[in-house]
Amino acid sequence: MEPIVVVEGLKKSFGDNAVLDGVSMAFPEGEVTSIIGQSGTGKSVLIKHIIGIMKPDAGTVWYRNENIFAATPARQTEIRQRFAYLFQDSALFDSLTVEENIAFPLVESLRIKDKEKIERTVVEKLEWIGLPEVRKVYPSELSGGMRKRVGLARTLAMQPEVLLFDEPTTGLDPVLAESINDLIVRVNGEFGITCILITHDIQATFRISDYIGFLYDGQIRAKGTPAEVVRSDHPVLQRFISNSFNELEV
Ligand SMILES: Nc1ncnc2c1ncn2[C@@H]1O[C@H](COP(=O)(O)OP(=O)(O)OP(=O)(O)O)[C@@H](O)[C@H]1O
Ligand SMILES: [Mg+2]
Repeated sequence: MEPIVVVEGLKKSFGDNAVLDGVSMAFPEGEVTSIIGQSGTGKSVLIKHIIGIMKPDAGTVWYRNENIFAATPARQTEIRQRFAYLFQDSALFDSLTVEENIAFPLVESLRIKDKEKIERTVVEKLEWIGLPEVRKVYPSELSGGMRKRVGLARTLAMQPEVLLFDEPTTGLDPVLAESINDLIVRVNGEFGITCILITHDIQATFRISDYIGFLYDGQIRAKGTPAEVVRSDHPVLQRFISNSFNELEV
């Protein structure tokens, strides 16, 4: 598959903290690609460059052979609409019902005015995540896992080409984490949406990803299919993988 997003030689420092020091990684269209790495290695910083809320010191991000950071502001806005990002805390508006939450970006971002179309989208997405009954409910009445699924429904309503997840399962119990991972697999399989996942849930990553990149000390130190990455001889990656698999046996 052709890459839909390519990160090329990305550099970003904060003061003298060189977080990204030449990160290069391709994200094939229609696949699930994950970036793994220890806490504080710059995974979130990387994702912020891909969605364009941070500007690199050097290097760039390509969307279908178009240099995002060289595009006009108007074109950048257009490109960004192809991307959606599931925030860690789902970022739902507590003063709006679930239905209003899902409708919000349709009205505000996509400028859809057709009320029936909006309602159909809301119903369809809530059915898809398996929560048709929460339409009139406020987010504060939902459990953490439900909020996450509603957040996903709202994101899907935008019909993105690329969906980015930053630590989608952190803070959830294993059963809920599993259900979110299954939803990611379904989003990819049923809609063909390219998924980019940032996580330290190593076991799930190896199960659901088509490709993995290991970020360490400012660069991608190993990349490929899960089978290729697991065979990498990078010592830190090996330790990272074996620690994660040992946890399961406790
Ligand atoms: N806006 C910022 N200003 C200054 N430093 C920042 C900023 N954003 C991130 N950093 C620093 O960049 C480094 C990488 O942060 P980042 O949040 O990307 O790590 P991470 O890999 O996502 O970690 P985690 O797994 O804990 O989420 C950290 O040292 C952090 O302090
Ligand atoms: Mg992070």
